Parts: sequence; C-alpha cells; structure tokens
Amino acid sequence: MNDNLHQLSCFGCGARISGAEARPDFRCAQCGDLFEVEYAGWNQRRGQNRPNPGALKWLWRERRCSSESLDQSGVWRFRELLPILDNFGNAVTLWEGNTPLYPLKRAAKALGVDQLFAKHQGMNPTGSFKDTGMTAALSVARERGFEWVACASTGNTSAAMAAYAARAGLRSLVLIPEGKIAWGKLSQAMDYGAFTCQLKSDFDGCVRILTQIVKQAPIYLLNSVNPYRLEGQKTPAFEIAEAFDWTVPDHLIVPGGNLANSSALGKGFRELHELGLVARLPRISVIQAEGANPLARSFATSNGERLEPVEAHTRATAIRIGNPASWRKAARIVRDSGGWCLDVTEAEIAIAKAELGAEGLGCEPASAVTLAGLKRLRADGKVASTETVVLVLTGHTLKDADYTIGFHRGTLLTQKEIGARATEIETLRRDAVAVDATPEAVLAALKESAG
Ligand code: F0G
Repeated sequence: MNDNLHQLSCFGCGARISGAEARPDFRCAQCGDLFEVEYAGWNQRRGQNRPNPGALKWLWRERRCSSESLDQSGVWRFRELLPILDNFGNAVTLWEGNTPLYPLKRAAKALGVDQLFAKHQGMNPTGSFKDTGMTAALSVARERGFEWVACASTGNTSAAMAAYAARAGLRSLVLIPEGKIAWGKLSQAMDYGAFTCQLKSDFDGCVRILTQIVKQAPIYLLNSVNPYRLEGQKTPAFEIAEAFDWTVPDHLIVPGGNLANSSALGKGFRELHELGLVARLPRISVIQAEGANPLARSFATSNGERLEPVEAHTRATAIRIGNPASWRKAARIVRDSGGWCLDVTEAEIAIAKAELGAEGLGCEPASAVTLAGLKRLRADGKVASTETVVLVLTGHTLKDADYTIGFHRGTLLTQKEIGARATEIETLRRDAVAVDATPEAVLAALKESAG
C-alpha cells in the first residue's frame, strides 16, 4: 500500500522537494527557510486527488466507533488529510488527540463574551499538545529506518518524543536547558528512557547544538522545524471544526514559543477550507510572555516582517524562547487571518492560570497566556461580545506543580510583578493550612476561612 501523497515546499523560496530529499536540519538548501508539507491538487477547485468533503465527515465520525488503534487516535482518524507515510501501518500511536473542548462559563461571563471554550491539549497521553505532532513525525522516522531521534526542548517536546520513541522501540536523545524546565517534564523523559543531556545554555542554545549534531550523526530531528510534526499538530483544527459541526469559531487564541503550533493550526483550518469542509477561516492570535516576546515586538515594530531575537525570561518555562524557529510561518498566519500578537505579564499569566484552575480546568502557565491575552484583546475592543472564542490550552497542570504551589503559597511573584494586582491575587490564592488532626480543628478552620 502506498498512502504517501506529499511533497515539501519551502516557505521562503517556494522550492519543492520530495520528503526523502530533506536535509537533516530540515532547512532549505536554497534559502535556509523551513518547509511545509504540501499535497498535490488540494488547493485547486477540481482534481483527482481532492478528497470528497461529505464522505470524509461521515468516515471520520464513523471511526469514533471503531476499535482499530489508528481510528482511536484523534490524529490518524483524519489520516486522509495527512498522507505522509508510505504505509499507515507504520504509525506509532498512543491514542492521542480527541481532546475535550470545554465551555468556560465563568470566564465568559466575567469577560462578557457569549461563547468561550478551551480546547484542552493538555489532555493528551503525555500531557501536552506535542503528542499530536510527535505521533506524525516519529512515525516518519520509524518508516525511514532511523534508530535514534532527538530534540532540543523546554520539556514537553522531550516528554512526548521519549514516550513515542519508547513505543516504537527507537532510542531518543534530549537536550534541555539546565535548571530551566519543569520537573514534571524532566521526569517524563527519564521515565520513558531518553538519553537526557542538561546543557548549561538556554533553549535557543540547545537548538543550535542539536542542529550541528544531526548533521554529523544519523539522528532524526524531531523539533518543530520538522514539517511532519505540524501535520499532526494541525489535527486539533479538524476536531474543533467537527465539534462545531463544520462551522469554525470566530477566533482561536494560541500561546507562542517556538511558534510552530499557531501555524500548524492555521494550516489545518486552511486545508479544511481549500477542500470545502468549512466555509471560512477563524482569526488566529498568538500570545507570548512579556519576557519572551520576540514576535509581539516584531508585530509592534514591523507588522511581523522582521524579528530581533531576545534573551528570554519567563516563569512559563515552556515558552521561554528568544529566537523562535517558525516565526515567519506564525507571522503569516496572524496577518492573513486578521489576528493579533501581543505579550502579557507574569502577573497576568499567574492570575489567568488560577482563574482557569478555579473553573476546574488546570493548565500549565504557558497555556494560561491565552486567557490573559483574551482579556487584553477584549479590553482593547478587539473581540466582540458575540464572538465564539477558543483558547488552546497546551499543557496539563501537573507538568509544573511547583509553579501552582508557589502561586497559592504567595511565593511565586515579586512585589514589583504584583504591582496593583495584590487584591486580585489574594482572592484567587488557596494555600493549604496546617490544622490539628481533630474534627473540631478542621471545622474551626473551615469557619474561619468562610468568615
Ligand atoms: N505551550 C506549551 C505547554 C509548550 O510546551 C510550548 C512549546 C508552547 C506552548 C509553544 O508552542 O513552540 O509551537 O509556539 N514547547 C516546546 C517544547 C518548545 O520544547 O516543549 P510553539
């Protein structure tokens, strides 16, 4: 069986190559830019390779009742739209995807937005959205016969890669910035048997070193410069469109780090539109942390045309990235979709995370930038009350329990960061209290807290 229908097209110069011709660093030999997976004929109105929209919708829904593992995966359920393998039998899956789309009733009311949802990608097998991309790219690595895979990571990519490599029987090499990733994520890489190197550098430094390594050794690079990652990461767009009965929300809000996910979701919606599965496209906005905001700065100064790398600092360690690889792709999707890119402060992130938590939807700090960003957009009049908005929550709350405990104990933020928000923060804090081991003491403590 040959399910493979793709080629790679350079985002910068438009050069087209076959998948097998890609260089180990996935950079274009002509111009050095990144590739995108392209399927011949999809963007033409007619053509023999264009799938039939009605049949696809029916098939994808039917697969929800199937017990085949490929059908149980929320990525491979949509495999007609990611024909990247010679044989789908080579897919490595942990039954990723099929994540919940939760209504956010309290936040919607507080913000005066009619329809607000959270697409919780933290509900994936390793607790982040990276699983959807990893199932795709690691399957390609296996099909092409690699024994080793590698990534530089702020933690979630490495956790996902290590798990999928372990399932496929491949070895994995992880480069992480020492002391700058959350323990939950490091523990996963260890547990899944990765060879983990902590480098005295930041994420951007780890990327530089890994790029040199893959040119010298037969190791398959699984950072998001690998275009197959994005093929998996586009599938939440299909799930969202399906959940809204093949209409699309007005606005999708995504955190921005290395800036691949926003473009992957944008690609997903674009392909649905090209193939006639949806009638329009959502706005896509990207939110960064104030201390790791190269794209937000780029939009402020050049409408996303030029980017100056920054030295990144934020407690939202997942997005502590100063020189994002996929910034051009993200800038295009923000511009083309009519979205915005902005940054939010450490206090705004912490407050938004606690508010989501109070609504029963924990997430990691990097995910909470989406709610913080929506508040800004709403205050600036950029989101109307009648709009349907989806926040993409990218990671599970247990990834970074230290952050959450620090917030509730009141040790997370500095006085300077708290600024005028002290009261807002105090009403959200729920520290654990030490109480004598008697019913009377617990009841007295309860009474005191209520009073
Ligand atoms: N949210 C979380 C939880 C992440 O782990 C990341 C990226 C992002 C958002 C940003 O996504 O890079 O596509 O803009 N984490 C990477 C990692 C860099 O190594 O795990 P992006």
